[in-house]
Amino acid sequence: MKIGVFDSGIGGLFTLKAIAKKLPEYDYVYLGDTKRVPYGSRSEETIYTFLKEGIDFLFSQDCALVVVACNTASTTALRRIQQEYIPVTWPDRNALGMIVPLAEACMPYNNVGIIATVATVASLAYPRECLQRSPKTKLVQVPAPLLVPLIEQGERRWIEPILADYLKKFGKRKLDAIVLGCTHYPIIRSLFKKLLPQGTAIIAQDTVVPKKLHTYLQNHPEISERLSKKKTRRLCVTEITPEIVSLAKKWFGSKNTIEKVVIEK
Ligand code: DGL
Repeated sequence: MKIGVFDSGIGGLFTLKAIAKKLPEYDYVYLGDTKRVPYGSRSEETIYTFLKEGIDFLFSQDCALVVVACNTASTTALRRIQQEYIPVTWPDRNALGMIVPLAEACMPYNNVGIIATVATVASLAYPRECLQRSPKTKLVQVPAPLLVPLIEQGERRWIEPILADYLKKFGKRKLDAIVLGCTHYPIIRSLFKKLLPQGTAIIAQDTVVPKKLHTYLQNHPEISERLSKKKTRRLCVTEITPEIVSLAKKWFGSKNTIEKVVIEK
């Protein structure tokens, strides 16, 4: 069986790249719902339905485990899917999200900024999970609705001024760390580095999640023992866009072509 990686768009491909670098032996199936991205400005119910369709697709493609790389889906819909849907419909499978690993990575810091989509900010999932672990942490969230569409379209030249404007919204407070609470933001990590004061730690899923997944697989032989190790990568999207074709080629080489799939019920 395989490991599935789900995202609303292209951002999760960057997470998959990092996971596959740390754990190259496994077989992976990626699903990017590029036809319906962005999820970040949609309602909770819609995100729930989209995630359920994505998870159904990946489990039906023989994935034993799905990593929900999409923060919006992780913060808004995953818990309900884990509690109500997977145990009934796919009882021997599991899905893991982004909130717990990223919240754990915040624990050493006192002043933490979170930048994410509108839905992730509204879910309050990061403040809840961070404060549960370190009640004294001071947290501030900033929604950044324009970044995802610009990254999806490859409109690099607009990203820097818009990101600079979002970062100003953290005000004068000195952040020890910033959580990139969205799949797509690690792709523009160099811009965050350029625009943030020196010494601000960047907490992002491409560096945090591969290690956590490794530990999870070590601790869950009921999943890891079912995983095949043929090093295959299957890249599926609901709509083929020029940006995903170019990023897939850049990150996975030209032998991994992009496949268009239908997941809507
Ligand atoms: N994948 C989403 C996330 O990580 C970003 C893109 C979207 O809004 O759908 O929050």
